[in-house]
Amino acid sequence: MEKRPDSMERITNEALAKSFIDEQIAAIKAQVGNKKVLLALSGGVDSSVVAALLIKAIGQNLVCVHVNHGLLRKGEPEEVIEVFRNQMNANLVYVDATDRFLNLLKDVVEPEKKRKIIGGEFINVFAEEAAKQEGIEFLAQGTIYPDILESDGVKAHHNVGGLPEELNFELVEPIKFLYKDEVRVVGKTLGLPDHMVYRQPFPGPGLGVRCTGAITRDRLEALREADAIVREEIGKLPQTPWQYFCAIPDMQSTGIKYVNGKGERYMGWACVIRAVNTTDAVKVTVPEIPFTSLCAMRDKIVQIPGINRVLWDISEKPVATIEWE
Ligand code: XMP
Repeated sequence: MEKRPDSMERITNEALAKSFIDEQIAAIKAQVGNKKVLLALSGGVDSSVVAALLIKAIGQNLVCVHVNHGLLRKGEPEEVIEVFRNQMNANLVYVDATDRFLNLLKDVVEPEKKRKIIGGEFINVFAEEAAKQEGIEFLAQGTIYPDILESDGVKAHHNVGGLPEELNFELVEPIKFLYKDEVRVVGKTLGLPDHMVYRQPFPGPGLGVRCTGAITRDRLEALREADAIVREEIGKLPQTPWQYFCAIPDMQSTGIKYVNGKGERYMGWACVIRAVNTTDAVKVTVPEIPFTSLCAMRDKIVQIPGINRVLWDISEKPVATIEWE
């Protein structure tokens, strides 16, 4: 296992981040010269910081690939394009592979099978894009030190978007000795927007693990809308929880709607609000959410077609996991 050098000072402020950035730019230039580097850019803080560092070091010789698997949050692909292509002038390939993923996931119920399909197809799409690029010799990765400590260098224990092993590229891992808080200081110093630098964790399989059971496009779209509402409302609280989102389980319950003054019963989905606090994602508590915020979310969420009920998940971990699948 690679070890963080004992001499490495903890990066806690902009000055330390600046000297780290200068060192890494020199190291990247020395490693890759004028060759091309490929990076799977998810828009998460780690890959975004690696992208920003490499753009500074090698500019257009970094090829970023952003794969939209159809399970991203509302506005996410647009944000990646805006920040990296429009603002940072990155060489960014955007692949909308939504149909490929959703077709493969059709009727698949088992959570681990869903994860495997998403992870496997991600690698396929990424490898196809890599094959279209000429002269790539390096692969950049947002590996951070906890990934090395926890899982022998494999990015996150069940992350999607890991290294396609069959692609025989030399690795560029400029933030591999950083802890998450240090990555954020470096990201901020590199000028990345706060919503990227302080982004809450988002699982690789995305909304796929929150649209439980077999994913249908209508339930997934309802979830994407509801998630945007939950993020907006809870994001307004003076202290935001560590992670907050919603899930729409594959179950229905009775609702009532009035047509010409006459009540009609129908079956609809329940949207589950989840907000948790933790330091390590292993033990999790549930913070209080003001009732006014819950009601504000409820009133907006029930307007989404197909949803007729809103629940608040107050389960701690253990015994419940954070995600619903
Ligand atoms: P659980 O649900 O296991 O989640 O309590 C712990 C943390 O891990 C995230 N998570 C995932 N991250 N791929 C990921 O990259 C996954 O398949 C996955 N499943 C859970 C979850 O969002 C939480 O932060």
